[in-house]
Amino acid sequence: MHIVITGASAGIGLAAARLFAKKGYQVTALARRLEPLEALSKEFPGLISPFSLDVSNKKAVETTFASLKKPIDVLINNAGAAFGVDLAQSAKIEDFEKCVDINIKGLLYCTHCTLPEMVKRNIGHIINLGSVAGSYPYPGGNVYGATKAFVHQFSLNLLADLLGTAVRVSCIEPGLVGGTEFSEVRFKGDKQRAHSVYEKTKPLTAEDIAETIFFCVNAPAHVNINHLEVMPVMQAFNPLAVYREPS
Ligand SMILES: NC(=O)c1ccc[n+]([C@@H]2O[C@H](COP(=O)([O-])OP(=O)(O)OC[C@H]3O[C@@H](n4cnc5c(N)ncnc54)[C@H](OP(=O)(O)O)[C@@H]3O)[C@@H](O)[C@H]2O)c1
Repeated sequence: MHIVITGASAGIGLAAARLFAKKGYQVTALARRLEPLEALSKEFPGLISPFSLDVSNKKAVETTFASLKKPIDVLINNAGAAFGVDLAQSAKIEDFEKCVDINIKGLLYCTHCTLPEMVKRNIGHIINLGSVAGSYPYPGGNVYGATKAFVHQFSLNLLADLLGTAVRVSCIEPGLVGGTEFSEVRFKGDKQRAHSVYEKTKPLTAEDIAETIFFCVNAPAHVNINHLEVMPVMQAFNPLAVYREPS
């Protein structure tokens, strides 16, 4: 089976690439940084094909996917990021744009390159990485959460379009995942601030989510896991916020 994973150079994507390779699957590992992908391919000789790819570059996505030698059985649209936690009224438009370009457009480009062949072969599985941020709003989540709400709904709409085919679509929606680069990217390299997000908590690990993805892929062929929300036991919900006039 041939698995294509975007964002395989770190975090959840790297853990998923490692898990699938460990189980003997052929993995095409995509990310902008080639070095970690090459290191991974040395860990699993003959099983990992590394390619440097920026998923937000439509032409590059089309060229890379066209160059793949084997048909794709599973596409894991994992590449994603958030930039800052500024309130929408003070956030940078460039941060909004980057988030949309990677989380929405990148996911669309990779999916668009993959689906027709899956339908033709009447086999395949698209796994999209959403987030609890797509369902539960929080201050500063603005565009990031909205991109993940897109991922959730796009996954369901794909299923509607694919009715009558054997192609499956699942959206995995994690809560707090520690040990990845996500917060460091969000806080633009501020390691201390990134570290404080997980202080005195026991977050999910990238390996937990890789196992969840593996479970979805290995469900019997007639079973489709539409969306799966996963949170650490230490995480829950806040009451709705109410603004009170100063007295
Ligand atoms: N960590 C969390 O708490 C959490 C919670 C819910 C959902 N998620 C979602 O899970 C996914 C993975 O997150 P993570 O925590 O594993 O983050 P991470 O450690 O920062 O990994 C992100 C991966 O995406 C790649 N990437 C970023 N921009 C890219 C681009 N333009 N083109 C290609 N690859 C790109 C990065 O590689 P390069 O930099 O080498 O390109 C990296 O491999 C994301 O979609 C994220 O939104 C994370």
